[in-house]
Amino acid sequence: MKLPSLTIGPFTATIPLIQGGMSIRVSTAALAAPVAECGGIGVIGGSGIPADELRADIIKAKKMTKGVIAANIMFAMRDFHELVMASVEAGVDIIITGAGFSRDIFKIGREHNVPIVPIVSSPAFAVLAEKLGAAAIIVEAKEAGGHLGTDLPLREIFPEIRKVVSRVPLIAAGGISDGYEMAEIMDKYGADGVQIATRFVMTKECDVSEAFKQAFVQAKAEDVTVMRSPVGMPGRAIRNTFIKNLQAGDKSLRPEKCEFKCLRKCDYVYCINDRLTRAACQGDVENGLIFSGEKVYKFNDIITVQQVFDQFVSEAESVYKEPKPAA
Ligand SMILES: Cc1cc2nc3c(=O)[nH]c(=O)nc-3n(C[C@H](O)[C@H](O)[C@H](O)COP(=O)(O)O)c2cc1C
Repeated sequence: MKLPSLTIGPFTATIPLIQGGMSIRVSTAALAAPVAECGGIGVIGGSGIPADELRADIIKAKKMTKGVIAANIMFAMRDFHELVMASVEAGVDIIITGAGFSRDIFKIGREHNVPIVPIVSSPAFAVLAEKLGAAAIIVEAKEAGGHLGTDLPLREIFPEIRKVVSRVPLIAAGGISDGYEMAEIMDKYGADGVQIATRFVMTKECDVSEAFKQAFVQAKAEDVTVMRSPVGMPGRAIRNTFIKNLQAGDKSLRPEKCEFKCLRKCDYVYCINDRLTRAACQGDVENGLIFSGEKVYKFNDIITVQQVFDQFVSEAESVYKEPKPAA
C-alpha cells in the first residue's frame, strides 16, 4: 500500500522520510536538495559552521529544489540563536533542534512563522515540546549516530512517547535500515514518518571526503562504539585510532587552546569541531571523529539519493498497511 505523505506546518513531503541533519558539513545543500527533490525533507546540518555559511547553504538548497528544506541546529552550540536567526533569514522551511532542549525556540518559530521540530528521547520532553508548540516531534533512539539522548532502543522508547503525543506528527529515528523497517515503525508502532541519516552518508551526493564514505562502507557491527563527547553527552561513532586513544585516557588529545569556542559547555578533553572536520572534510579517518549510526554495517555500497528513495519506498510499500486507529 502507498505510504502516506508527511505534513509539518504548511509543508508536505510526499514521502514520509526526513534525511537526518549531520553537522560540520556532512549534510549540506548538496545532499539536502536531492532529498527534497525525491519528495523527502532535506536537512542541512547547521551546527559547527559560521552563520553566514549556513545562510548561504540554505539559499543554495532552496534554489536547487522546490521541495522541503530544513536546518538542524544543536542547542549545545554557543551561537544557537545566531544560527537559528540565519536560517530564518535565509527562508528555511523548518527548524529541527537536537542535542539539548530550547524553550525559547518556539517563540522565535511563532514570531517568524517557522515550524519548530525538536528531537527528543523521553516522554517528558515530548509532552513539553507538544505543549510549547512543536509542529512535529522526532524521537531519536540509541541506534542513532552522533550525540545520544538515551540508551533505549527505538522499539522500546517509541511506544512510550507515542502514548503521550497525540496532536502533532511523531517521527522515528535511529537504526532504520530499510523500507521493511520503515513500514514496520509506521504501521506497527504508529510513526508518521522516519528520520534516516547513516544511509545518506553513503550516497554519491553527500559532500564528505571519499575516505569518510569508505569508513562507513567498510565498518562492521563490532566497529561501532559509544564514546564521550565534550558536549557532555555520549556519542556513537566508528572506532579508530582517535577513539582508542581517547578511551585509553590520552591527555595529549586536549587542545592547547580553543580555536572555535563553539559549545556552551565543553570539557576540552578534545576538540570536537576539529576532530569531526578532520574525518568528514579532510579524510583523516584515523585521527578524526567518525560519527555513525549503529546499523552502518548493513550498508556496503555508495548509491544515489534517488536509489535510496527507490529502495526504501518500494520495500516499505510492499508491506505497509495503514495503522488501525486506537480503540
Ligand atoms: C555523521 C552524523 C552526524 C550527525 N549530526 C547530527 C547533528 O548535527 N544534529 C542532530 O540532531 N543529529 C545528528 N545526527 C543524528 C542524525 O540526524 C539521525 O537522527 C540519526 O543518525 C538517525 O539514525 P541512523 O543514522 O541510524 O539513520 C548525526 C548522525 C550522523 C551519522
